Amino acid sequence: MDSKKNYGRREFLKHSGILSAGIAGAGMTGIGLTGCSSAEKSKSQPHVQTFNMSGYSAPKLDVVRVAVIGLGNRGSGTVRRLASIEGVEIKALCDLEADRVSKAIESIKHLGHNPDPYAGNEDEWKRICDRQDIDLIAIVTPWHLHTPICVYAMESGKHAYTELPAAVTIDECWQLVETSEKTRKFCVQMSSSCHGGIPAVILNMARKGYFGDIIHGEGAYIHDLLLRYNFDKEMYHNMWRLKENIGKSGNLYPQHGLVPIIQLMDINYGDKMDYLTSVSGNDFMMGKTAEKLAATDNFFKPYVGQKYRGNINITTIRTNNGRTIMVQHDVTSPRPNVRFDLLSGTEATYKAPDKIATSHDGWIPEEEFKALVEKYTPEINKRFAALTREAAQIDNRGHSYFRVSPTDWRLIDCLRNGLPMDMDVYESAVSSAIIPLSIESVANRSNSIDVPDFTCGAWKTNQRGMDINLERGGGTTKLL
Ligand SMILES: NC(=O)c1ccc[n+]([C@@H]2O[C@H](COP(=O)([O-])OP(=O)(O)OC[C@H]3O[C@@H](n4cnc5c(N)ncnc54)[C@H](O)[C@@H]3O)[C@@H](O)[C@H]2O)c1
Repeated sequence: MDSKKNYGRREFLKHSGILSAGIAGAGMTGIGLTGCSSAEKSKSQPHVQTFNMSGYSAPKLDVVRVAVIGLGNRGSGTVRRLASIEGVEIKALCDLEADRVSKAIESIKHLGHNPDPYAGNEDEWKRICDRQDIDLIAIVTPWHLHTPICVYAMESGKHAYTELPAAVTIDECWQLVETSEKTRKFCVQMSSSCHGGIPAVILNMARKGYFGDIIHGEGAYIHDLLLRYNFDKEMYHNMWRLKENIGKSGNLYPQHGLVPIIQLMDINYGDKMDYLTSVSGNDFMMGKTAEKLAATDNFFKPYVGQKYRGNINITTIRTNNGRTIMVQHDVTSPRPNVRFDLLSGTEATYKAPDKIATSHDGWIPEEEFKALVEKYTPEINKRFAALTREAAQIDNRGHSYFRVSPTDWRLIDCLRNGLPMDMDVYESAVSSAIIPLSIESVANRSNSIDVPDFTCGAWKTNQRGMDINLERGGGTTKLL
């Protein structure tokens, strides 16, 4: 094992300052991160993999007994999505606010679910994890709770299905890896993957050689959350998401743009991230918005004069096989959404939403693009579309089965068929690690920083995840 690249988490944290600064849920507090030289890293104890979760299949579950923790904007929909998949039994629902729990219970009664309510204090979720009759904990809370709940859930014998990001510090990334390996429980991130849609088609094309050798990928979380979300008093629990933008500058939400590229480049399965460098500009919008709102509403006074994240962050990553990735983060500018955006290969280039080029002469005509999509649509898209149509034909009860994501469906399908997960804890860890590493690079004039190898060298031999053609089986779970 290359100890320079696989430096231990405690040692990394000691040198980087992350352990003492504690950026998880940092809210309004600032952080001071310092660099960690290669020489220091090489002296440290490397992390040792105790069990390889890549390719691991857990004992099959006919019925997947689920609890959902956090029932706000996103979690209320997560409950309905999971309740609409065959073989799922929603056993418990939890939020700080009791009325959110009762509304969520009401929303799935017509599907035959009658979960137990948990509400009222910060630690109610522990009582759920302590139960013996639950298999999977879905976590849809503010970010700082994701790792604590995932770790407690896995330690209590449950699989964890967490909203993005799974972790916010390097220490948390290692906690997830160590706990998943020790307990042999899955820790999978929700959404943002090459399951379904055009990303699955592009992944299929890439695997069949259409793009030649993959050279470069670009993705982003460009989504204007300024006024309608982060500065909206009613939107997030205790303004948690606005507070996350204070005191640290970097890419705070990389997964939407990055995870499809991780899967397209087989990161952790033949390649790995080597190092990154990250740059953020100034805040041009959040501070001014706080001042403007505070002029007529005292509620916003504490948000004036804060050190807001630079509005645009650009992080570039080099992989061990010499490929490059660019991920951007911008949740304030008035511009349309961007997620997985570009894939460049030696033979062809894809640009979202629907462009392909095979030379510098321009993009291929729309009809040719459509023909390629038809030719390369993978089995997972076909099966999911058929199941969705089938559900639509037999069900007129008005719930949102169309919004069950292919990732939700595939997770339950793999658990019910005893198949390896398409997405594993190493992907959760490495995609989350971009948050603290980009913050550290930005704080150090964009100095490059090594990305920890959460697989401890197993990336060299790991077999590919993401079974988009259902070659290992499955695809049998219906939508209700
Ligand atoms: N994948 C996506 O496309 C997507 C979209 C939206 C949100 N998200 C993610 O979903 C998560 C939740 O976001 P949101 O918009 O629903 O936020 P929210 O503030 O609307 O909801 C969070 C909920 O968690 C509850 N909560 C807080 N502390 C708790 C505790 N100790 N125990 C139980 N419940 C607790 C709050 O009461 C609230 O109802 C975030 O991680 C966010 O990044 C993902």
